[in-house]
Amino acid sequence: MNQSLLMCNPAYFGVNYVINPWMQGQVGQVDSTRARTQWREFYEALGRMADVKLIDPLPHVPDLVFTANAGILRGNKFIPSRFRHDERRAEEPCFKAWFSANGYEIVELPEGIRFEGAGDALPQPGRDRIWAGYGFRTDLEAHGFLTRVFQTEVISLRLVNPQFYHLDTCFCPLLDDKVMYYPSAFDPGSVRTIEEIVPLENRIAVSREDAENFACNAVLAEKTLFMNGASRELRSRLENAGYVVAARPVTEFLKAGGANKCLTMALH
Ligand code: ARG
Repeated sequence: MNQSLLMCNPAYFGVNYVINPWMQGQVGQVDSTRARTQWREFYEALGRMADVKLIDPLPHVPDLVFTANAGILRGNKFIPSRFRHDERRAEEPCFKAWFSANGYEIVELPEGIRFEGAGDALPQPGRDRIWAGYGFRTDLEAHGFLTRVFQTEVISLRLVNPQFYHLDTCFCPLLDDKVMYYPSAFDPGSVRTIEEIVPLENRIAVSREDAENFACNAVLAEKTLFMNGASRELRSRLENAGYVVAARPVTEFLKAGGANKCLTMALH
């Protein structure tokens, strides 16, 4: 097990406010028992392939379960998120405390810049490249900061569809320079950027149905892709590319606008 991830038990998870389109009409609608069962099944499956660490859940911060939004980590440097919405800002000190207690160096964003961590910044495995989203939660200015702190190439992609407000809801870097993505989530210039950098044979574009089922919000562990679900077509394309598709439904978390990938943060 050389992969390590951070998760947070959903003891206090729920939809208590509306900050993305998925949450509309879902306030108070989460079935907590079901959410806990779905989370545990995913956690246990992942735990068989990776070392999963836990941050303590806290009342009144229901979205703390989405640890992908803690910040971004590269090497020993951790840049904590600065959330767009006040509803999530109370999570910032929780995540910061965990990362500093676990020996990471905290590098603060400049004043006034918003950034939602690994939800909007995805490294390409085996490459010195970070794909970074902006437009809803993260400011474009945050990308320049990532370049400077991590000394790495950062590719900025503009998100234009409010349903896909974080990059990890519509884009998933895979092995061997491949990517899985939902083109309609991006502005035309960003689609062109993706197509220029990633040759056709390395691009797996998903349908609207798969995108709305959070297929791009997948966690890669070795060659297994953990995801909420995939159509038969997408599943066979991924299997042909050498992946094992492990469906771990997290439908209760979809009510908050997040799925499997959002529920994890890669530690190294
Ligand atoms: N309710 C949360 C929000 O709107 C969901 C976060 C999902 N996380 C993610 N990495 N996409 O902020």
